[in-house]
Amino acid sequence: MQKVWIVGSAGQIGTAINEVLDPVELRVLNTDKEELDITDTDEVLNFGEINRPDVIINCAAVTDTALCEEEPELAFRVNALGARNLSIVARKIGAKVVQLSTDDVFDGESRTPYTEFDDTNPKTVYGKSKRAGENYVKEFTHKHFIIRSNWVYGKGNNFVNGVLEAAGEERPLLVASDQFGSPTSAKDLARIILYLMHTNEYGTYHATCKGICSRYDFAQEILALAGKEAKLRAVPTSQAELSSVRPAYAALDNFILRVIDVYDMPDWKTSLKEYMEESREG
Ligand SMILES: NC(=O)c1ccc[n+]([C@@H]2O[C@H](COP(=O)([O-])OP(=O)(O)OC[C@H]3O[C@@H](n4cnc5c(N)ncnc54)[C@H](OP(=O)(O)O)[C@@H]3O)[C@@H](O)[C@H]2O)c1
Repeated sequence: MQKVWIVGSAGQIGTAINEVLDPVELRVLNTDKEELDITDTDEVLNFGEINRPDVIINCAAVTDTALCEEEPELAFRVNALGARNLSIVARKIGAKVVQLSTDDVFDGESRTPYTEFDDTNPKTVYGKSKRAGENYVKEFTHKHFIIRSNWVYGKGNNFVNGVLEAAGEERPLLVASDQFGSPTSAKDLARIILYLMHTNEYGTYHATCKGICSRYDFAQEILALAGKEAKLRAVPTSQAELSSVRPAYAALDNFILRVIDVYDMPDWKTSLKEYMEESREG
């Protein structure tokens, strides 16, 4: 039976992976910051060498983009050096690494979706620290999957929950109409992670739900599916709530998944509907 170490297991994506995996098929080791801080090199090496997982899925990160701007040392310590530490131990024990990454490694200035072959050019501290993490993974391991996604929502703080909380308020919610991306449910991202990690198709992947929309369109769809009303006002990013320091154009093309033709991501509206129905059922 394969042993999988889910690092950052209490976050949105770590939680979703635990929800969709089959515990009969996999032995799972879950750790988050309280059990194991990935910036502690010795602890990471010890844990990896004692437990010897076959796969390490790194979902741990500082994902608050504003906090990354305020505390760049923290961002690089966790997002870059943490990934390095996990890669060092993975190489030592021969484990595969799945490294979660983001559209923020691009500059957001394109008007067509970024493929895995486009040059990175991060503009934010978060994006720079995530690219540094990707580079460490590439430097220290060759059995890796770097999986970039965007606009992910699951159990945690995210745009969907932010819009739903604002519903019913008197004042209008200011939503960016000049940001474009592909809303992707944490569960659908978890499914592709679990699929890929069983293969030997190593490398960098873009994995987002199909279709592109603006933040404003996304907010409208969330409210429509929830059957709730809120006053939405379309504004430029500089005035927007819930999404201030992101690249403007965040759309990723799942080019390699399409080329190898083994896995099809669902449409973003279908995926959002599934999430909203499950949330309602509690
Ligand atoms: N959410 C998105 O839209 C999105 C899009 C593309 C890619 N990603 C990437 O996907 C990954 C997971 O994202 P997510 O949305 O699940 O993030 P998340 O909900 O913020 O989860 C990250 C987890 O990592 C933990 N963590 C932080 N510092 C740590 C440390 N030093 N050692 C161990 N654990 C630590 C966090 O704990 P605390 O909360 O206690 O700090 C949190 O439980 C990240 O690499 C992110 O860059 C996310």
